[in-house]
Amino acid sequence: MEKQPIGIFDSGVGGLTVFKSIRETFPQEDIVYFGDTARVPYGPKSKKTVIDYSIQNTRFLLQHNIKLLVIACNTSSSVAIPYIQKITSIPVIGVILPGAEAAYNISSNKRIGIIGTEGTIRSNAYVDEILKFNDSVETFSKACPLFVSLVEEGWIKNPATEIIIDNYLSYFKEKDIDTLVLGCTHYPVLSPVLNKYFEGKVNLVDSSHAILSKIQQYVDEDKTCIGTSQFFVSDNEEKFMKIANMILGYPIHDLKRVALGESWFVD
Ligand code: DGL
Repeated sequence: MEKQPIGIFDSGVGGLTVFKSIRETFPQEDIVYFGDTARVPYGPKSKKTVIDYSIQNTRFLLQHNIKLLVIACNTSSSVAIPYIQKITSIPVIGVILPGAEAAYNISSNKRIGIIGTEGTIRSNAYVDEILKFNDSVETFSKACPLFVSLVEEGWIKNPATEIIIDNYLSYFKEKDIDTLVLGCTHYPVLSPVLNKYFEGKVNLVDSSHAILSKIQQYVDEDKTCIGTSQFFVSDNEEKFMKIANMILGYPIHDLKRVALGESWFVD
């Protein structure tokens, strides 16, 4: 039987945090990654636009005969899954449910913070999923849009980053949270500084790890072969390569630029 790849898409380069954990955990799998670098960021865009872009990204990956679609982008995952499921019968896994489940399970005091893009926080998707486990959980949400730019600039240990972190996250200091969902592809890169900010007292939930158990059932059991990794972007290959190197810790090779077609989404 022909080997089918796992398809992953993100609004850009941040989804490589998800690619990285899938690549490391399932080395036997072929993976096709699409980063919509021409239209990033999705975070500040309307729900309709994010759904529209997500459907186009999915159609592109379906051309690669994927067996499973992983939506690495939190903003897309928070609004687009039901619409994507209308155009394909393959399994679709987003990052919201696994992240919410991991946060719920790890929190002892059931006081959970959530950070993400404006779109993800506006959607309330993490809160809705967490409350399905237990509606007495206290949740506290905050959009932290500048974190994306800090990561893309590579400003991880920069003093400016510490100031911006304090500006956004001081909100959580009085809330007595013991768990914080990193609800955006880029945020796990900031984990060391976030851990320092919370003095190691808050569990940081990284959806790129939480998603692995959901993928397990779809992977090839034979781990003897080494899977391929193909990357596609819609713009700016050089910048993608540079940030990819920072996120993955190694250079990527098989990268091509593609132009996506017209809109397919009709409300
Ligand atoms: N990939 C996006 C997310 O996880 C972050 C970057 C963007 O705003 O597009 O929500």
